Amino acid sequence: MAALKEKRTCGQRCEDFGHFVWDSDEGKFMGRTPEKWVYISLYYVSFYAVMTSLFSLAIWTLMYTLDPYTPDYQDRLASPGVMVWPDTYGEEVIEITYNTSDKASWMKMTKILNEFLEPYNDTKQLECNNYNCTKGKYFLQKHFLGPHHTKYSCPFLQSMLGPCSGFEDPTFGYNCSMPCVIIKMNRIINYLPTNRTDVAPYVNCTVLEGEGNVAKIEYYPENGNMDPSYFPYYGRLAQPSYVNPLVAVRFSLVGAKHAKIQCRVVSEKISYENYHDPYEGKVIFYLKALK
Ligand SMILES: *[C@@H]1O[C@H](CO)[C@@H](O)[C@H](O)[C@H]1NC(C)=O
Ligand SMILES: *[C@@H]1O[C@H](CO)[C@@H](O)[C@H](O)[C@H]1NC(C)=O
Ligand SMILES: *[C@@H]1O[C@H](CO)[C@@H](O)[C@H](O)[C@H]1NC(C)=O
Ligand SMILES: *[C@@H]1O[C@H](CO)[C@@H](O)[C@H](O)[C@H]1NC(C)=O
Ligand SMILES: *[C@@H]1O[C@H](CO)[C@@H](O)[C@H](O)[C@H]1NC(C)=O
Ligand SMILES: *[C@@H]1O[C@H](CO)[C@@H](O)[C@H](O)[C@H]1NC(C)=O
Repeated sequence: MAALKEKRTCGQRCEDFGHFVWDSDEGKFMGRTPEKWVYISLYYVSFYAVMTSLFSLAIWTLMYTLDPYTPDYQDRLASPGVMVWPDTYGEEVIEITYNTSDKASWMKMTKILNEFLEPYNDTKQLECNNYNCTKGKYFLQKHFLGPHHTKYSCPFLQSMLGPCSGFEDPTFGYNCSMPCVIIKMNRIINYLPTNRTDVAPYVNCTVLEGEGNVAKIEYYPENGNMDPSYFPYYGRLAQPSYVNPLVAVRFSLVGAKHAKIQCRVVSEKISYENYHDPYEGKVIFYLKALK
């Protein structure tokens, strides 16, 4: 009956609280005798100990059955996706548009390419991927013979992109009508692009629209090849210094200097006609040089 409750002064309340903390009449601390406190503490300590050990056991069992070097869940990516740099998007489509007479416009493209190529810096690659790879063959590694229980990765040097490396022409051709684009294929763990050991996948670019506006298409490295020694990829833990092989493509634009391009990575085990994934095995983009 709250209404009947007499009003208590602050002093009385403090006294009540003090009595609660230590009740000298009954020898109770916070409402319990020290003996009871010992029992209840023991109960909770053992309760949490049991819970923690059950939880740890479950996690440990899970981790024990996982192989840290390969992802468990990997059913979707049967065929790799393909991407293009500079990765500049227009409305939903990739649009590599630049103005040769506007320095800021082509500097933007060269900046994207320079940043993308940073991991491929020759000095850096020769330092961390100094293994002497045999070109033209898959680099199959059963054992972890690399430093710190890893597998070796083959170096891919920026200079292998020749005229599109940014060394001879730091503008990558964007100050004129010969722009370079870089094609990269996504990595898939343990994936081999062919059943044979000696056929490299290669990039083939075709002009879908504006055929008369493209005078020449050149590939670097030669023939647009991705050397088999970059396959298979064993995962981030096994190959921490792995870099994807790249192919640079230089287009010589003429006339209206505007074209729709498709670049495909051709190999027997790379499909490219997936309606649900337009980037599987190929990439389509618009290339346009303004003046
Ligand atoms: C290209 O840049 C130049 C110089 O900034 C400018 O005069 C010209 O209008 C630009 N062209 C187009 C199509 O935007
Ligand atoms: C590569 O890296 C080295 C050292 O970090 C640097 O001096 C050099 O300029 C870089 N080269 C390029 C092409 O970025
Ligand atoms: C790399 O291997 C090739 C062929 O086995 C050999 O000719 C070359 O001298 C080797 N290079 C180095 C730096 O070990
Ligand atoms: C573009 O840049 C390259 C390298 O800096 C230079 O050799 C070339 O003359 C430039 N072209 C134009 C059209 O400015
Ligand atoms: C590659 O080998 C796999 C398995 O042996 C087979 O199912 C597939 O048909 C082969 N593909 C080609 C193009 O030979
Ligand atoms: C590239 O693709 C085009 C069109 O599909 C084809 O005609 C051409 O032969 C291909 N080139 C190579 C080297 O495979």
